[in-house]
Amino acid sequence: MTAVQIDGKAFAAKLREKIGEKAAAFTDKTGRKAGLAVVLVGEDPASQVYVRSKGKATVAAGMESFEYRLPADTPQDELVALVRKLNADDAVDGILVQLPLPKNLDEKAVIAEIDPDKDVDGITPTNAGRLVLGMDALVSCTPLGCTMILKDMLGDLSGMDAVVVGRSILFGKPMAQLLLAENCTVTMAHSRTRNLPEVLRRADIVVAAVGVPFLIKGDWLKSGAIVLDGGINRLDPEPGEEKGRIVGDVAFDEAVGHVRAITPVPGGVGATTIAVLLRNTIVAAYRNAGLGDPEGL
Ligand code: GUN
Repeated sequence: MTAVQIDGKAFAAKLREKIGEKAAAFTDKTGRKAGLAVVLVGEDPASQVYVRSKGKATVAAGMESFEYRLPADTPQDELVALVRKLNADDAVDGILVQLPLPKNLDEKAVIAEIDPDKDVDGITPTNAGRLVLGMDALVSCTPLGCTMILKDMLGDLSGMDAVVVGRSILFGKPMAQLLLAENCTVTMAHSRTRNLPEVLRRADIVVAAVGVPFLIKGDWLKSGAIVLDGGINRLDPEPGEEKGRIVGDVAFDEAVGHVRAITPVPGGVGATTIAVLLRNTIVAAYRNAGLGDPEGL
């Protein structure tokens, strides 16, 4: 069996079309554009690329993009003051502080300052708690995108065995909660898990984001598994290459021969993340303007 390759770009394009309509309707109703503020501290090259892409996508969807670039040695109180200013700014519906922050800053304390109603990453204690409690919450973009892809493909996920590899606050933890809410039997695997191949072999759904290129081998996956690879790893350049290739956490060439469906890297999970960020921003904008939830997102 050769796997279906799940087209994240096509999925994201459909979602962006709906978001564009909702963004235009928001502007009609309120007389202003929905706004997303992105804060980048330091000069990490990968983060700079992400932030630029987020800004472009926000404008393309008919929303306002506010970008704040601060030096790596920004003191904690200055960053907190910026977050508080954005919390109070009525033109800002969503706030994203790009992670990881430089080591001199207390990341958890900064996150806790973000207004939960503008927390489009779903990482404040309020939104993380609301997700666990099964209440309405803003939810981290990559795991929400993965869940949307799975539901689009399979409809009902009830009773399926799902293994989430990775336990970060932006990915593994919310991913497990979302799958649990869909009635999956969820196992969380991580760097201390014993015998990962054995754990993975019983999974109907595998979702991975650990940042280790090709960690998951093809023969660790059961035939018929659905594999979502959230890894974005840059390999060292091969001779003749200027930059190394971007690859996932799953050995794609091995897996594609026998699983049921798999997301490629690039063009899979990563392609959906920014579209979901725009989705969360427009949802936050509607709710905060007292317009309720936009339908169909
Ligand atoms: N760094 C890499 N991905 C993300 C993301 O989705 N949100 C934030 N805040 N930082 C990131």
